[in-house]
Amino acid sequence: MAKAGKYSAPRGTVDLVGDAAHTWEFLTRTASRIFSLYGYEPIYTPIFEQTELFVRGIGEATDVVGKEMYTFEDKSGRSLTLRPENTASVVRASITNSLVGEGRSAKLFYAGPMFRYERPTKGRQRQFYQIGTEALGLDSADIDAESIIMLMHFFEEAGIERSSMRLLINSMGDENCRPAYREKIRQHLLNHSEGLCEECNRRAETNPLRAFDCKNEACIAIMNEAPKLADELCDDCKEAFEKVKYYLDEAGLDYIEEPKLVRGLDYYTRTVFEVQVDAGLGAQNAIGGGGRYDGLAEALGGKDSPGIGFAVGFERIALVLEEQGFEVPRLNRPETFVAIVSADMEDKAFELANDLRKAGHAVLLGEQGRSLKSQLKNADRAEVKRTIFVGPDELEKGGVLVRDMESKAESFVAFADLENYLKAE
Ligand code: HAM
Repeated sequence: MAKAGKYSAPRGTVDLVGDAAHTWEFLTRTASRIFSLYGYEPIYTPIFEQTELFVRGIGEATDVVGKEMYTFEDKSGRSLTLRPENTASVVRASITNSLVGEGRSAKLFYAGPMFRYERPTKGRQRQFYQIGTEALGLDSADIDAESIIMLMHFFEEAGIERSSMRLLINSMGDENCRPAYREKIRQHLLNHSEGLCEECNRRAETNPLRAFDCKNEACIAIMNEAPKLADELCDDCKEAFEKVKYYLDEAGLDYIEEPKLVRGLDYYTRTVFEVQVDAGLGAQNAIGGGGRYDGLAEALGGKDSPGIGFAVGFERIALVLEEQGFEVPRLNRPETFVAIVSADMEDKAFELANDLRKAGHAVLLGEQGRSLKSQLKNADRAEVKRTIFVGPDELEKGGVLVRDMESKAESFVAFADLENYLKAE
């Protein structure tokens, strides 16, 4: 295929054009509509932050911080990083703007690009788009359940079939029970070091729980035999997790308890969850995930303040929607085409198109200087419902000719009746 132009989009990035752009627009619109039902409000934070924020927030031993960050020095020598995710930024913003503390809480949602230097493959980009939410300053189990319920509500409203989604949940424990569990997993890894891959051997010292995510068959078999965190939770964590499940059961939400779900970012405590879909996706089958991070605000220098949230991945949702044959609804798809019958009608057609748009109709106007035939080709391509012909004969009679594009029936409509005519159709 001939390459168009001299420059291409950088590896791991894509232009969102056509259906992809409409899908992103539809998903962000759906997110605002659904999340606001639960009292969430929009927030926009910078695309880049001080590098230290992510190192502290996400954890030095994670793949994201260790291998995947786009870090650069600006002209004054500051180390900045393109956000690899948005939770650390939102918690930072909540501290900067005093959104939480002293009994206050904040429920926030966001949408935008994130950046991770990963190997690009199906459903995995270097610049990818997330939609996410964070509930800050709230720590009761109903908030965990609400977050999960809202996530599934969003996916269903986005058009993903419920039966195609698998909701996995787990508890990661807290600072009371996790250190002992981490040590147990470290021991387990050391005891099986011969069978483990190089990376998992390294993980034994840096981040033992990450070994649960290894895709190597031998490592999977060894980790299947590892102690389960569910058996090691302290009483408080156990009780909190039982309550989350109680609320999910009450809401009639199906889920799978997955003791091996550990997630890739270090800030998680207690409830974690992930939604997976197989059809349409390869190995990158998580369309969204999240969890509680009760120690994050303090780690970032704020007051001790709990939090929970999730993020969903646009690219993967788009692949799933395509696989399921979902037709993405377009906002204001033009249903009316205004055709200019002859050059002397250009100004009148221009005026009519503007009047109709102000009255709330989505209108495409024929291009000036083009023949009527070529204008009508555009009308066909746009699949409009009707074409309004602005021509001298009808204009003299105070109206226009309207053609129904399906039946091809035509009728004269006076300007005074046009508004009602379009509404009635
Ligand atoms: P995460 O699991 O790293 O969590 O990412 C959430 C979702 O973003 C994934 O499930 C996936 O759909 C999508 N995603 C991640 N990396 C890529 C990539 N390279 N290309 C395409 N899609 C990708 C977080 O980011 C947390 N901040 C979520 C969260 C919010 N936890 C608490 N609050």
